[in-house]
Amino acid sequence: MTKSRILYMALTRFLLGSGLMAIAGNTMAAESEDFNVAEVYQARCYACHGTGAAQAPLLGDVIAWEIRMEKGLDTVVQNAINGLNGLMPPRGLCAECSDDDLKAIVEYIIEMSQ
Ligand code: HEC
Repeated sequence: MTKSRILYMALTRFLLGSGLMAIAGNTMAAESEDFNVAEVYQARCYACHGTGAAQAPLLGDVIAWEIRMEKGLDTVVQNAINGLNGLMPPRGLCAECSDDDLKAIVEYIIEMSQ
């Protein structure tokens, strides 16, 4: 088992544990105006994108996101939805996030990384 795989599994457990309550409470909220991009980023994406875990591109890393955006926003959003290289987990492990939610979070990350 590789190091990143172990890290991934540890994070999955951690996020699932802390996320179950949120899933129960927010299934509807995710589609309403209550959806708070910054909050969901913090709860779901920060573990990797705020720390660089598994070599995730950091929020605020202008160059890292500029390079990724060369693929175009649509591709970057699709990679967030489908996962990337076995490192970025599908939907960033946010099972209750809709495609539109994920797009909004990706746009938020990019906005904060300029
Ligand atoms: C378990 C760690 C982890 C979590 C949680 C995570 N990511 Fe990632 N993410 C990564 C890693 C690692 C990469 C880089 C993958 C690569 O380029 O091989 C990545 C890459 C990305 C990319 C760039 C895709 C591209 O085309 O270059 C986007 C966008 C992204 N993540 C969005 C998110 C969002 C939104 C969330 C929360 C809903 C999230 N991630 C949660 C680890 C994570």
